[in-house]
Amino acid sequence: MSKLVIVTHPNIEGSVINSKWVNELGKHSEKIAIHSLYEKYPDLKIDVAAEQELLSKYDEIIFQFPLHWFNVPFALKQYMDQVLTYGWAFGLGGDNLKGKKVGFAVSTGGSQETYETMVSLEELLKPVYVSFQYCGCELLPTHRLYGANQGITNEFIESNAKEYADWLL
Ligand SMILES: Cc1cc2nc3c(=O)[nH]c(=O)nc-3n(C[C@H](O)[C@H](O)[C@H](O)COP(=O)(O)O)c2cc1C
Repeated sequence: MSKLVIVTHPNIEGSVINSKWVNELGKHSEKIAIHSLYEKYPDLKIDVAAEQELLSKYDEIIFQFPLHWFNVPFALKQYMDQVLTYGWAFGLGGDNLKGKKVGFAVSTGGSQETYETMVSLEELLKPVYVSFQYCGCELLPTHRLYGANQGITNEFIESNAKEYADWLL
């Protein structure tokens, strides 16, 4: 069964990390399907029924995004608000996500030290984790790259992208 990666990046052309991740995963298109929210919906008018149908087809779903103001990009929050509806994702009859595995791949501009001393990604993403758990999903570990804006090397980015792909394969 192939896996679905949902990418939320408002400027993928200007991206270094998320675009590298997408390129690396794209080498395994028989096993990993990539769905980019901004590519599909440049105006962010999300087709809720189509998104729900897409989620239904996969047992393992990864949400990939850059950290924005210590949170998910607003388009991903919008996606969650609109797609994870009562009666579909939770509540009476809302068992469509139950048992699915959900994971995250997150890049940060801030350094690893920041996320080890000031606040952790786990603390920041707790509401998102709990939301999917609330919908009956099993959480996978979060793949991460810290320090995108701290002068990291191409080699580091490439090896991180390979680790990400290896994890999903
Ligand atoms: C609007 C905005 C808000 C950001 N907020 C944060 C933040 O809160 N913490 C952080 O570490 N990096 C923050 N960044 C930096 C991005 O996370 C970083 O540039 C991105 O992860 C790098 O990935 P990319 O090359 O795919 O864009 C922010 C960037 C933007 C554009």
